[in-house]
Amino acid sequence: MAPEPERDRPAASAVPPDDRHAAVALFGERLALAERYADLLVTDGTVRGLVGPREAPRIWQRHLLNCAALAELIPSGASVIDVGSGAGLPGLVLAVARPDLTVTLLEPMARRTAFLTEVIEQLGLSGTVTVHRGRAEEVAGRLQPADVVTARALAPLHQLAAWCLPLARVGGRVLALKGASATEEVATHREAIMGLGGGAPVVHRCAAALLDPPAVVVDIRRERDPGSGGARGNHPGAGRGRRTRHGRT
Ligand SMILES: C[S@@+](CC[C@H](N)C(=O)[O-])C[C@H]1O[C@@H](n2cnc3c(N)ncnc32)[C@H](O)[C@@H]1O
Repeated sequence: MAPEPERDRPAASAVPPDDRHAAVALFGERLALAERYADLLVTDGTVRGLVGPREAPRIWQRHLLNCAALAELIPSGASVIDVGSGAGLPGLVLAVARPDLTVTLLEPMARRTAFLTEVIEQLGLSGTVTVHRGRAEEVAGRLQPADVVTARALAPLHQLAAWCLPLARVGGRVLALKGASATEEVATHREAIMGLGGGAPVVHRCAAALLDPPAVVVDIRRERDPGSGGARGNHPGAGRGRRTRHGRT
């Protein structure tokens, strides 16, 4: 049999029928742009080693939809710093779904920042998204503190909080996409996080009516600078915060 003509074959990145309802709900009129991003992830992203070869069939369910679910926690017009973006998850997904956001993708690896820069250009997102090459602990105090700092698959929760809280403005929030371990991690690291200037972490299950499993997000409000005193300033976790290389205390 003759091979299927290229134009008739569904793209590897097309939304699978089972995910279509959630994709339409989460991306709305930006779905076509999300499909273009999915396409770049499974083609260029795979070839360049930013996306594992086994991720292509589950690029929507496991990656784009999981990340887009986070958008429900982000206020309109917010500034966002996405720490450790990798191939753009969740920062680029949020920028695609939410044109009202101003997004900075923070990523230390040159190979990844090159990919991110190209994708932003190709998707026409350069008005709202910028790439910053660097490590969170090195850029704190140099980047404008954001309303929201996001992260996925970055580090255990206490390390993630130590890196991300200094990048949020006081009153802003860190939103960390986590898996099934979220509640346990919160219980383990709650006091240390509060010692770093965070409020008590809250676990949300996002897009629960659309996704199975829902996206699990740990939400930490930045309440104060770790060095600004208060009862929690004496907690051992606060001491760990002061010894970091943030240079903010
Ligand atoms: C496991 S990958 C996750 C990538 C993406 N967030 C995702 O969910 O697919 C972790 C990413 O964090 C970056 N990273 C590691 N340490 C970092 C740090 N201290 N500051 C900023 N990014 C960091 C790595 O370069 C890598 O791209």
